[in-house]
Amino acid sequence: MSFVVAIDGPAGSGKGTITKLVGEKLGLMNIDSGATFRCVALNMLQENIKLEEEAKINEMLDKINIEMKENGKIFLNGNDVTQRIRENDVNNFVSQVSTIKIVRSKLLNVQRNIAKGKNVIMEGRDIGTSVFPNANVKIFLDASAEERAKRRQKQNEEKGIKTSYEEVLENIIDRDKRDSTREISPLKQAKDAIYVDTTNMTIEEVVEKIIQIIENKKECD
Ligand code: DC
Repeated sequence: MSFVVAIDGPAGSGKGTITKLVGEKLGLMNIDSGATFRCVALNMLQENIKLEEEAKINEMLDKINIEMKENGKIFLNGNDVTQRIRENDVNNFVSQVSTIKIVRSKLLNVQRNIAKGKNVIMEGRDIGTSVFPNANVKIFLDASAEERAKRRQKQNEEKGIKTSYEEVLENIIDRDKRDSTREISPLKQAKDAIYVDTTNMTIEEVVEKIIQIIENKKECD
């Protein structure tokens, strides 16, 4: 029997950082479901497939092979794309790709297969609502849009990417809107998820809180 922790939340809520740290501390495989959407977006860019070309997307999805290694490396059709899927062209395209119905249904199986038989902590937008509706623990991480923009801006600065705070905030608000209003599997808190507002919390405090929630759940099961 595998143990599944689902972490959902909007862009910049700290899901990536928190999931990685909690996974390491509790020995759970860390799965970033956004990376699977990024792989599809990259494959479409590589094959020059447009959003509206459904037949070509279908054909590409039939052949696609996405692997996630225990060390966090991501392979698309046999090539290591761990860094490549974080580049700007993919950033700018992935949100639209994630609204395509056939992409979501294909990736649902990919995400479930990656986790099969393992103890995992998976982060995304719809893990507790649609990928693993029976997850052992469901957490919805949130923070104010202003705080999330501040965090993203800091990350950009560290990476040497020049952006203004206003630009980042606008992008966060746009993505929130697109992710939460899309027709299929929108970003939404699962009814049985625990809501954690991280606006005024440090990373260490959030990690501690999540570990506590998971440990409590294990004791009750
Ligand atoms: O978390 P991220 O920025 O790597 O996600 C990339 C895109 O994929 C994001 O725009 C929303 C989408 N996504 C999704 O729709 N469902 C998920 N479970 C994870 C990501």
